[in-house]
Amino acid sequence: MSVDPAFLDRVRARVGVGDALEVAVEAAARSSGVVLGSSALSATSRTVRGELFGAGPLQALLDDPDVTDVLVNGPRDVWVERAGRLVPAALDLGSESDVRALAVRLAAAGQQRLDDASPTVDARLPDGTRLHAVLPPVAGTGVLLSLRVVRSRALTVDELVTSGTLAVTLVPMVRALVATRANVLISGATGSGKTTLLAALLSLVPHDERIVVIEEAGELRPNHPHVVRLLARRPNVDGAGSVGLSELVRTALRMRPDRIVLGECRGAEVRDVLTALNTGHDGGCATVHANAAEDVPARLEALAALAGMSRDAVAAQASSAIDAVLHLRRSGPDRAVRYVAEVGVVRRSGGGTLEVVDAVRADAGGTCVSGPGWPALAERLGLGGSHG
Ligand SMILES: Nc1ncnc2c1ncn2[C@@H]1O[C@H](COP(=O)(O)OP(=O)(O)OP(=O)(O)O)[C@@H](O)[C@H]1O
Ligand SMILES: [Mg+2]
Repeated sequence: MSVDPAFLDRVRARVGVGDALEVAVEAAARSSGVVLGSSALSATSRTVRGELFGAGPLQALLDDPDVTDVLVNGPRDVWVERAGRLVPAALDLGSESDVRALAVRLAAAGQQRLDDASPTVDARLPDGTRLHAVLPPVAGTGVLLSLRVVRSRALTVDELVTSGTLAVTLVPMVRALVATRANVLISGATGSGKTTLLAALLSLVPHDERIVVIEEAGELRPNHPHVVRLLARRPNVDGAGSVGLSELVRTALRMRPDRIVLGECRGAEVRDVLTALNTGHDGGCATVHANAAEDVPARLEALAALAGMSRDAVAAQASSAIDAVLHLRRSGPDRAVRYVAEVGVVRRSGGGTLEVVDAVRADAGGTCVSGPGWPALAERLGLGGSHG
């Protein structure tokens, strides 16, 4: 059955007066002289749901459990990352103006405006999908869309072990990090699985603790009964009304948190987080972009500089606040495997500079070797033995 705009309007009208979607689809079909069988009805309802409430023609891709990203470069140039590999999707989105209309509608569904005056948007769709859209001429070739699927359910630590993300020998250490309320920084490159690992860790937090999550986009979905979220707000078109992450970190401190979690540390809020973690708010977590664990100090220094902190101040604060760095890497053909490649401890070197010393290194096959930082970490976590 063809789902054209007139058909959608009829369904929309019936849903508006309270009909369930399938009832509305069936009635709208009947009024155009079509009787739908049950499988045609559910297929049509799925398409209509995508058009009315979701990502339209992209919805089927987003619903595929193996798909993590959907990238639209043009009406017939759509790519998906499926099971870690970037592959073209055989999808025809119509004309360039159809893609533009889709982008505008998706942005509106995420409460954002996308037009010539504000040609880039970072939004979150009602189902949690993260949307980034750019209109020409800022987008050089035509409307560009990037959608990141957000899993509605956090992966468990056991699932991370099964999928090869976490070496099985690291599990006791990961559990101990949470149980002993260590402050943990998760690092990795873009899309390396930082947010996913963080949600898995938070799912281990005892259920009698209150977690306050501070985020840009509201992506973290830990499996935990007591999570409250603070979301940063961008300035409006007049440049007013923004609420930044630094302010939210300070706000969180007054909300009786047992754990303060910063979804992604990307600016001056690093100062507020380090201050919080150094003033008795233990068990905190954050993620940070860094291509290698040894790049974490330089990244923290760069972010702290935005807050006016000296290298010396950030070295002193970070070395006492952060108990462990978990670094993620991608490897294999097409970088399909995401895994925890290093666990490090944060220290000041003899010269006073900040450094991350490896406690455990893992390879993509799950083999672990302990490093010079292991004794200190094992002692902090009350663990014995070695890795490797
Ligand atoms: N261990 C994993 N197993 C399977 N899929 C994973 C795993 N880790 C991450 N993914 C998928 O990869 C995508 C990127 O993961 P995630 O958002 O956690 O990365 P990130 O490092 O936080 O990315 P960004 O840098 O954009 O914040 C997600 O769609 C997620 O579902
Ligand atoms: Mg992330």
